[in-house]
Amino acid sequence: MSVRQAVELGVEICGLRFPNPILTAAGPPVHDGMAVLACAAGGAGGQVTKTISRTAARPTTPNMAEVAHGFLNAELWSELPPERWIEREYAIARQAGLPVIVSLGYTAEDIADLAPSVRPFADALELSTHYIGEDAAPMVAAIRAAKAALDVPVFVKLSPLGREMRRAAEQAQAAGADAIVAINSFGPVLAIDVETATPRMGGQDGYGWLSGPAIKPLAVRCIHDVASAVEVPVIGCGGVSRGADVIEMLMAGASAVQVCTAAILRGPSVFGKIAAETATWLERHGYARPSEVVGLALGRDATRTSGVPLLDLALCNGCGLCELSCPEGAIRVVDGKAVIDEEHCSLCGLCISRCRPGALLWATPA
Ligand SMILES: Cc1cc2nc3c(=O)[nH]c(=O)nc-3n(C[C@H](O)[C@H](O)[C@H](O)COP(=O)(O)O)c2cc1C
Repeated sequence: MSVRQAVELGVEICGLRFPNPILTAAGPPVHDGMAVLACAAGGAGGQVTKTISRTAARPTTPNMAEVAHGFLNAELWSELPPERWIEREYAIARQAGLPVIVSLGYTAEDIADLAPSVRPFADALELSTHYIGEDAAPMVAAIRAAKAALDVPVFVKLSPLGREMRRAAEQAQAAGADAIVAINSFGPVLAIDVETATPRMGGQDGYGWLSGPAIKPLAVRCIHDVASAVEVPVIGCGGVSRGADVIEMLMAGASAVQVCTAAILRGPSVFGKIAAETATWLERHGYARPSEVVGLALGRDATRTSGVPLLDLALCNGCGLCELSCPEGAIRVVDGKAVIDEEHCSLCGLCISRCRPGALLWATPA
């Protein structure tokens, strides 16, 4: 650990200055102008607004549910018509004085139609690719339509569908995208209420889209792949609920993050809490600003060929979780402390991840 220093959380992306790297993501926490202001008051560093399209959405009901480790939705885009946003909601959202990133969907025709009207309010656009399929052509056409209509940065938000993320990001960059947002919610998925034998989401198939902590490893993988493939900035999204999640996404190559589910479940003050945790983590580890950790994990090979985990005897509480889970039976708790059998340890690393007091660790970084 290095010497502590004051942390400056501000980040600059595509010429836009954000006081901290925790932005809103399109969704219920930013469903209208007042909600956007509440997120700003709660500490958000930038404001992405709920996706609008040429007509108001009419989602099926029910369309939201908390599930173990995650969240399901079948919400679509804004239920307010675009005229309402243009006449009222964007102007309210701008009162916070933070950059406003207007989320638009979906086709090139939609974007060409909507973009000129949102120009007075948009510091940047974010294009959702959620409902335009696997083929890159509609995404490319939408980006070109946005670039032709406006002179603000265009962020493209990728959905983690079957699509290969590197290729999709390269195509987006080649079409003129100024930043990539990774990722949207994952799906379709299905959850069933076993008391009533009915899907948790309404509609013909009961399908929904998964968000929250359950998708964070998927999001981190996508951020890592995209950041390795393109030069434009990457904004991470998916399962961020604490400062360590922000750091993880920055290390994977993101320059900032967006938060939706955590703000639904914990309210708008979650942005300030996550920002404070991020600052504390950076300070404790001797970093002065978020940019200093961006991409630190890129290109690092974690393969381990020797050296069993080390045990800090003072921290080991003899709980036995390591012994219980070791697939090789290579750990036993003897006299209240774990003992590792070096001959049988396969270096799988599971015990380290399960050790609650943090007594097990690799001797040196890979
Ligand atoms: C209820 C709900 C509604 C959402 N609506 C939109 C939307 O209108 N446009 C969009 O691009 N993403 C939308 N999303 C996706 C989020 O912006 C975000 O990409 C995703 O939920 C992963 O982030 P999280 O785990 O922080 O929620 C929505 C997510 C949820 C949960």
